[in-house]
Amino acid sequence: MAILFHCPWDNADQWLAALQAAMPNDEFRIYPDLGKVQEIDVAMVWRLPHGVLSGLPSLLGVCSLGAGVDALLEDPDLPRNIPIARLVDPLMMDRMAEYVCAAVLHHHLGFDDYNEQQTRQFWQRNPTTDARDRTVALLGMGQMGQRCAERLGTLGFKLIGWSRSPKKIDDVKCFHGRDQLDGVLQAASIVVILLPSTEQTINLIDKVALNAMPKDAILVNCSRGEIVVDDDLISALDSGHLRGATLDAFRQEPLPSGHPFWQHPKICVTPHIASLSAPDTAALILADQLHCTRNRQRVANTVKLEQGY
Ligand code: GLV
Repeated sequence: MAILFHCPWDNADQWLAALQAAMPNDEFRIYPDLGKVQEIDVAMVWRLPHGVLSGLPSLLGVCSLGAGVDALLEDPDLPRNIPIARLVDPLMMDRMAEYVCAAVLHHHLGFDDYNEQQTRQFWQRNPTTDARDRTVALLGMGQMGQRCAERLGTLGFKLIGWSRSPKKIDDVKCFHGRDQLDGVLQAASIVVILLPSTEQTINLIDKVALNAMPKDAILVNCSRGEIVVDDDLISALDSGHLRGATLDAFRQEPLPSGHPFWQHPKICVTPHIASLSAPDTAALILADQLHCTRNRQRVANTVKLEQGY
């Protein structure tokens, strides 16, 4: 049996080495060199071209090299009767929490204003708000959202969380469902998007949602670009309603040159760096997913197709 591997990132060699070290008895077929397709029983992939998986007659399961599975689920020919596993790696949760804490603290402490003051060599202390008086809303309370909540909680922020279905999480006021979204947005001065990209979340943060946020609020997006309507965000910033945004995920990546986000004075752009997957730790998780898939055991973190993640 053989494993199909596809990694379009520039550290593909490092990924392959880590996978081979974790699964030394397995043969990896590197896309597009499939060899005999009937020998491939598991795929470990990221952004594999559509239609490839459906051409693998012995496929027992698919493992994603990243946390999000939206690109896999967009394949119209995706086999729907085998486990598709998300990568859930505690190290990636820590990385996400670091990014979110950095973005939240940046805006909380007004570093955006001080960066601007520096360009004018202007020395002025602005009024401060304490963390205990600042409410941060986390949209998406899965493993990533919960790790971010733990870390932001340690920093003293007041936290509210919003998710698809009801959750109970210590020290986080939890809300759920579309009907409760506006209330969550109204209550927070910093809103962090950690949602998966699904039919329900695409374009969720549009003009109406942005208007629900209080004046001078901040938006942080570290999940997927499609969740935010770009033009509506720019209008909300330009009108002075929102104070700023930190964006790590975009509808098109790399963010095309000339896109208005690049030059916008109130937007901080990072090149999709929040929660990068880590080959060494991921390889151990993927080895376990391989074992479970081949032994027809329950594979952890498999996608619920009807839910879309
Ligand atoms: C990155 O965006 C991931 O889904 O892991």
